[in-house]
Amino acid sequence: MPLIIRLLWLLIVGILAHSCNAQNYINTTVFDPLKYVNQLIGTDNGGNVFAGATRPYGMAKAVADVDGQNTAGFSTDGRNVTGFSHMHDSGTGGNPSLGNFPLFPQYCPGDEINNCNFLKGARKTSYVRSSVVATPGYFAIELGTGIKAEMTVTEHAALYHFEFPVGANGTGTNPLISLDLTDLNASRQNASVSVDSDGRIKGNGTFLPSFGSGSFISHFCADFQGANIKDTGIWVNNRAGTEPKSIFVTRGINAFYLEAGSFVSFERPANGVISARVGVSFISEEKACRNAETEIPGEKWDFDGIKKSAEEAWREKLSVVSVNATGVNESLVTNFYSAIYRTMMSPQNYTGENPLWQSSEPYYDSFYCIWDAFRSQLPFLTIVNPSTLTEMIRSLLDTYKNVGWLPDCRMSLCKGFTQGGSNADVVLADAFVKNLTSANSTSKIDWRLAYQAVLNDAENEPLD
Ligand SMILES: *[C@@H]1O[C@H](CO)[C@@H](O)[C@H](O)[C@H]1NC(C)=O
Ligand SMILES: *[C@@H]1O[C@H](CO)[C@@H](O)[C@H](O)[C@H]1NC(C)=O
Ligand SMILES: *[C@@H]1O[C@H](CO)[C@@H](O)[C@H](O)[C@H]1NC(C)=O
Ligand SMILES: *[C@@H]1O[C@H](CO)[C@@H](O)[C@H](O)[C@H]1NC(C)=O
Ligand SMILES: *[C@@H]1O[C@H](CO)[C@@H](O)[C@H](O)[C@H]1NC(C)=O
Ligand SMILES: *[C@@H]1O[C@H](CO)[C@@H](O)[C@H](O)[C@H]1NC(C)=O
Ligand SMILES: *[C@@H]1O[C@H](CO)[C@@H](O)[C@H](O)[C@H]1NC(C)=O
Ligand SMILES: *[C@@H]1O[C@H](CO)[C@@H](O)[C@H](O)[C@H]1NC(C)=O
Ligand SMILES: *[C@@H]1O[C@H](CO)[C@@H](O)[C@H](O)[C@H]1NC(C)=O
Ligand SMILES: *[C@@H]1O[C@H](CO)[C@@H](O)[C@H](O)[C@H]1NC(C)=O
Ligand SMILES: *[C@@H]1O[C@H](CO)[C@@H](O)[C@H](O)[C@H]1NC(C)=O
Repeated sequence: MPLIIRLLWLLIVGILAHSCNAQNYINTTVFDPLKYVNQLIGTDNGGNVFAGATRPYGMAKAVADVDGQNTAGFSTDGRNVTGFSHMHDSGTGGNPSLGNFPLFPQYCPGDEINNCNFLKGARKTSYVRSSVVATPGYFAIELGTGIKAEMTVTEHAALYHFEFPVGANGTGTNPLISLDLTDLNASRQNASVSVDSDGRIKGNGTFLPSFGSGSFISHFCADFQGANIKDTGIWVNNRAGTEPKSIFVTRGINAFYLEAGSFVSFERPANGVISARVGVSFISEEKACRNAETEIPGEKWDFDGIKKSAEEAWREKLSVVSVNATGVNESLVTNFYSAIYRTMMSPQNYTGENPLWQSSEPYYDSFYCIWDAFRSQLPFLTIVNPSTLTEMIRSLLDTYKNVGWLPDCRMSLCKGFTQGGSNADVVLADAFVKNLTSANSTSKIDWRLAYQAVLNDAENEPLD
């Protein structure tokens, strides 16, 4: 990531200098920057970037999770798919982050529920390499079982299409989708899940951040459309039943990691497609349901419309930079826009989703980590997306106000580990000399508070 950013920076400086003359701008109605985003760059050999569906800085980030290099969920390392989950981080170098409450689609051999594979290690399946499609706001993949998945997102909800091929006699004919009370790094401390007769699965869990201290609580709300429901229930330890309809799991006296979750089975619809909508929240299950219902409403969820809306959001962000690509190697232009795209994954906009303190200020999370981001990504955003960076800085200051320190790294509502120590100071100073808020009087940075925060970093040393 840092190298890509450095190259990008050189390019940008060149292009900005070049484009002072308006004649050098490309007509963006005919030049579409989305054509040049390749989300699969950096998804192998430790790149750790997020390849799936997200809106700019979005909280919902949906992708297939693999059991290989999975710090960001998916990798093109050819390893098996373990599920489809709704929140991720991008570019992390620590433990796998988030990936809470994955869904997994399958047929149970002989339509016998206990022939299904519920455990992560048992259900995992290969995927067809050539089937992977990753474009802004969209991700699709075909599993070795012939089941296809495609997904798109809003800010706080993911929408999946699972397409089940005609079930072969002996493999089962009734699709089943399970939900697992786990995350990518099996950090769950305890969790609850319940399923009702409409097939709505709701739940919450306490998890650990991937590179920090403390724990956080995450909530979800999953609904299904497109097929008649056959059964609903709970699974534990690779056994499932239609009773009970809810369960609470904890680590118990010896910290044993009991795998458990819920499931819904269906009659296969004629077109084979079952939709799953998953709302996420850090506030409550009810908020997770509301996020899903308001962002993906209706009797028939509008997959294409939501995908288009995400694409429009990306087009607007990326069109800020235009290039004359005539005669330029397309692979260079692809590196260029893919790198800009990657500057808008994280920090993620969790405004309205912070349970830690009451505030009317924005809340951004996944500052992952400022000792890397201060050099290139955040200075770059002062130029191409100052209004969002302004919100991020207000969030940093609000975090200082409420926890006592500017973050050096922060993820999943938790304090991250410290490395550089006080690189947020540099972010504030850079924004200050660039007059970040002078262009917009409706969203002001409190520079007095900023000075206090920087002074605190300079003069006080925390024990840890
Ligand atoms: C784009 O670059 C090409 C090649 O240098 C040049 O011929 C053309 O005039 C440029 N177009 C614009 C709109 O500047
Ligand atoms: C950009 O291209 C579109 C489509 O060819 C054209 O209608 C529009 O006038 C062009 N805009 C500029 C500023 O040249
Ligand atoms: C994928 O999972 C299958 C079944 O568990 C296993 O046989 C295979 O080796 C796995 N492939 C990889 C690349 O891990
Ligand atoms: C397989 O198909 C036969 C004939 O259609 C049917 O009688 C039988 O019940 C099916 N078995 C399963 C396990 O679905
Ligand atoms: C958590 O992630 C670390 C680093 O990738 C890995 O060593 C560890 O085995 C993971 N733990 C689990 C339970 O997946
Ligand atoms: C869940 O785990 C967290 C972290 O270990 C703990 O603080 C909390 O009390 C647990 N909640 C329940 C209901 O057991
Ligand atoms: C999680 O869900 C359970 C069961 O609905 C509920 O009792 C509990 O209060 C919830 N925990 C949180 C932190 O919302
Ligand atoms: C474009 O760049 C790629 C990657 O560096 C290179 O493999 C390819 O040969 C280049 N194509 C041309 C026409 O120069
Ligand atoms: C961040 O999220 C809040 C709440 O959803 C929204 O009002 C705000 O416009 C978002 N900011 C950006 C830059 O999208
Ligand atoms: C910032 O604003 C001050 C006062 O209006 C002005 O003197 C300075 O040139 C501005 N700096 C930049 C980088 O625009
Ligand atoms: C000013 O900030 C508001 C709120 O963040 C935003 O909606 C608006 O687009 C911004 N205006 C400019 C000119 O950046």
